[in-house]
Amino acid sequence: MCGIIGIASNKAVSSAIINSLRKLEYRGYDSAGIATLSNGILNEVKSKGRVDTLEKNIAIKNMLGSIGIGHVRWATHGAPNTLNAHPHSSDNVSVVHNGIIENSTLLKKHLINKGHIFKSQTDTEVIVHLITEYLKELNLKDAIIKTLKQLHGSFALGIIFKDQPNLIVGARRGSPLAVGYGLNENYLGSDSYALKSMTNKISYLNDGEFCIIKKDQVDFFDEEGLKVNKKVLELTSKEQDYDKGDFKHFMAKEIEEQPTTLKNCINEYINVINNDININNFPWNIKEISSVTLIGCGTAYHSCLMAKYWFEENTTLDVTTDIASEFRYRKNRFKDDNLYIFVSQSGETADTYAALDLCNKNNMKTCSVVNVIESSIARDSKFILPIHCGIEIGVASTKAFMGQMLVLYILVLKLGILRKDLDKDLYLNKIKDLKVLPKLVEQTLLSESKIQAVSSSFTDAKGSMFLGRGFSYPIALEGALKLKELAYVHAEGYPAGEMKHGPLALIEDGMPVVVLAPRDNYYKKTISNMQEVIARGAKVLLITNKSKDEIFSENIWETILVESTNDDLLPFLLTIPLQKLAYYSALKKGYDIDKPRNLAKSVTVE
Ligand code: F6R
Repeated sequence: MCGIIGIASNKAVSSAIINSLRKLEYRGYDSAGIATLSNGILNEVKSKGRVDTLEKNIAIKNMLGSIGIGHVRWATHGAPNTLNAHPHSSDNVSVVHNGIIENSTLLKKHLINKGHIFKSQTDTEVIVHLITEYLKELNLKDAIIKTLKQLHGSFALGIIFKDQPNLIVGARRGSPLAVGYGLNENYLGSDSYALKSMTNKISYLNDGEFCIIKKDQVDFFDEEGLKVNKKVLELTSKEQDYDKGDFKHFMAKEIEEQPTTLKNCINEYINVINNDININNFPWNIKEISSVTLIGCGTAYHSCLMAKYWFEENTTLDVTTDIASEFRYRKNRFKDDNLYIFVSQSGETADTYAALDLCNKNNMKTCSVVNVIESSIARDSKFILPIHCGIEIGVASTKAFMGQMLVLYILVLKLGILRKDLDKDLYLNKIKDLKVLPKLVEQTLLSESKIQAVSSSFTDAKGSMFLGRGFSYPIALEGALKLKELAYVHAEGYPAGEMKHGPLALIEDGMPVVVLAPRDNYYKKTISNMQEVIARGAKVLLITNKSKDEIFSENIWETILVESTNDDLLPFLLTIPLQKLAYYSALKKGYDIDKPRNLAKSVTVE
């Protein structure tokens, strides 16, 4: 999704901005642009497509200026083309923007009446014209304050001015924004990851704040223009050099990395000597919690749903799950004894952040399961459980999904034993099994050989279904989501027992259907549901775990076997073939696997 970079320096900044925009590419975008200020002139270069295309523009090579802003855009208002790419500029002001200005139509009308001429279809351009208008009568600070007050919606902004050769203004409401401190230069960035190659000293703007960045000074202000003191944080996680290595795509690498990332995470949370789980500094007494709400979006929501099954199996806590974009606008009954858990890889997802913010404003117990520990969701949660899986670049979440499930499962076991819902021996056995999980994931990754061959049937299909019951149902949803987003094939995840209540009508001759039927408590029921779809012509790919017992079922098209473990942990193993199925299906079609169309890694608009 959109990303912002700003640099105030004593040397030319255009190539440093281009390099930093590259760090933001993983978020997903459709166009890019840069503006610098030199000798009192605002220079602007923009292009549709990748940062590489922008860099090839001859004008960039000659772009002077020690003050500049850059942007990668993920279209919201207006088509993804060069005209709508950011920055947007008037003669006096140049702006880059993340977020959505909800009252832009009204503001635009008002500005057109005043004689302003608009060039693009974006909501952002109203910001340019508002500032330009207010600068006619106000000083810079007051023009900014007045502009920000006019805007409804969410934004992170980077602004440069023709008449201010030394400064960049940054402003934030809703969308994240960070400031970085360097030697004789300072930076603005939509996330700290983009700044990590330049500095590890960072401050974050809070909602409603703005800042003025010069090469040797940064000042922060609240919405009324009063000075705010900021802590400078030192990032502990250094910039990782993360490349594809010998893999064709980051997604392939991230799938293969899973045994290692799971092992790292287990090492962080499990004391190998006494086989106990360490969740240090948990801020609440366990007796204060009698229910749990898990909230997330997309794949992160699926890990929430998975955790619901584990909570119900291993604790007596009441559990609900919610999709963040629904939760944030519902009339929720907030309960003091409820633990609200927010799951997010990026930690920047706008809807998940808004749901967290709502809970914080109601003084609830908030905890987040995140990958990016410097993210907004991590910073604003009362307690954090990191998933320790390292940066994830592929837009389709793979290792982070596994990490989220793992951390949620660890939390389930810990709450289960602390509440005495789980018997001590059972707890210790479950931990023993957990320690072997990375090995089983590794073996499942190695042993799978059919997926590549069967993926053609999905690539060419009009539609497909993914069925599962119990613990396998959230994984069926996740498998369908992965196929949709990567191979652009319609795929529906469904509880196997629900098919006869409607979706069975979709089944026709040769339709590929994935059935997840591990040898757990639901096995026999799922196998019966599988027969019902086979009887109606479905081509069934059965995914189950290795067992000495035969599979008593006829006419199964293909069977894939994963390793065996206890019922709780089977979902991890079932996930592997589904990730690969989506990967190979997209590969066959030649799609952009790491950056699927229309999608973004960090979804910072609602
Ligand atoms: C799908 C996928 C998305 C994300 C969702 C939430 O593969 O990655 O569905 O899970 O956009 O993102 P985070 O976890 O960053 O909040």
